[in-house]
Amino acid sequence: MSVDVLLGLQWGDEGKGKIVDVLTPHYDIIARFQGGPNAGHTLEFEGKKFVLRSVPSGIFQGDKINIIGNGVVLDPALFKAEVEALEVSCNDLAKRLYISRKAHLILPTHRLLDAAYEAQKGADKIGTTGKGIGPAYTDKVSRNGLRVGDIEYNFEQKYRAAVARHETLLQQMSFDYDLASLEKEWFEGIEALKRFRLIDSDNFINSELRAGKTILAEGAQGTLLDIDFGSYPFVTSSNTVCAGACTGLGIAPSRIGKVYGIFKAYCTRVGSGPFPTELFDTTGQTLRDRGFEYGSVTGRPRRCGWVDLVALRYAIMIDGVTDLIMTKPDVLDTFETIRTCVAYEIDGKETEDFPFEIDDRVRPVFFELAGWQTDMTKLKSEDEFPAEFNAYLIFLEKTLGVRIKIVSVGPDREQTIVRYK
Ligand code: GDP
Ligand code: IMO
Ligand code: MG
Repeated sequence: MSVDVLLGLQWGDEGKGKIVDVLTPHYDIIARFQGGPNAGHTLEFEGKKFVLRSVPSGIFQGDKINIIGNGVVLDPALFKAEVEALEVSCNDLAKRLYISRKAHLILPTHRLLDAAYEAQKGADKIGTTGKGIGPAYTDKVSRNGLRVGDIEYNFEQKYRAAVARHETLLQQMSFDYDLASLEKEWFEGIEALKRFRLIDSDNFINSELRAGKTILAEGAQGTLLDIDFGSYPFVTSSNTVCAGACTGLGIAPSRIGKVYGIFKAYCTRVGSGPFPTELFDTTGQTLRDRGFEYGSVTGRPRRCGWVDLVALRYAIMIDGVTDLIMTKPDVLDTFETIRTCVAYEIDGKETEDFPFEIDDRVRPVFFELAGWQTDMTKLKSEDEFPAEFNAYLIFLEKTLGVRIKIVSVGPDREQTIVRYK
């Protein structure tokens, strides 16, 4: 069997959590392959709302196996808090949630280093989520990281050596910190991790595939935050693109089946970095208010703008998207007209290619369509779509060259319209 992948095509928060939950009944296993608690994936059903950070979004649908893959960075303290909150409503969590021994650990000093590096950058800061993501992946790549499997043998010694190295760095940066309280909750988190099944996820996943099981790989962040292909340096520190599912789970490229690319009908971004279609006016504020665009992890207001088809086409190319998923068109319900960015103008020349760097020379070229001015949140099937919305869908499919399989019309699991099998 093959592995299907679902990933964000913009700067994150496209609605991945909701859609993974909706698709979960079609799969045996749901696996996160990169990122860590910088993610905040929101699910709503039966009047309840959950925000997941490290736990895959398949955790609420029946007895599916959920895996935290080797490409993920895991903070034991935040993981403990997350699973304890989930256990109130989720039975047998420890039986259904497996963790890769090869996933890397986020140490308390990684969080401190994240804050110290951001402070050092001053006005040029990335605007990270402050969860220690960059420093943890830096240690992984520089071959200094600690992995989940390390907690099973001679751990204290490895931990102390890593912390000593980090403390030297923090002192060099004259960064004030209090490690003791962070360490206490972190070691409680290590004990919590031991309640879960720690697995050699690469072997496990491949043997399940051989046995005919189906897997959905759940991306975090979005393609424009990818370390190689995103708006560098204003990116996260992992490969958020489809190829990340191969390295983050131990799956051969030939095993990848469908690639679901998810995007909002407009666009948002949290933290610093370029955003050509950003709106600073009342339209931007309307998008923020109607879309509740405030970070699910940090609570920061999200920057809002029109959908960027140049960036989307680039993301679709890098990810090899086979099916698109559109979320939050209902946020545009009251708009008389809707804009889409179809090209960039750079130094007076128009281009449809995503440039090396999006700097202040890049100007969006917009194409305007009529709004539908209809409440979409109650719609149950494609037949009920207003004519203007159908025109918008056709325009996007033509411009992007990929069909839109699912339209999400509200945050709830039920507010989902599947257009074809
Ligand atoms: P993720 O990180 O990609 O999982 O997305 P987030 O959960 O951070 O942000 C998406 C937000 O939009 C959440 O608050 C969801 O509940 C909400 N949401 C998802 N799909 C829709 C939709 O179709 N319409 C509306 N109005 N809200 C949605
Ligand atoms: P989900 O999975 C939106 C952004 C941060 C910052 C940059 C680097 O919920 O879509 P990091 O802490 O990763 O070093 O921050 O990436 N960022 C996200 N933005 N959604 C996310 O995750 C994000 N995870 C990181 O705001 O700009
Ligand atoms: Mg999110």
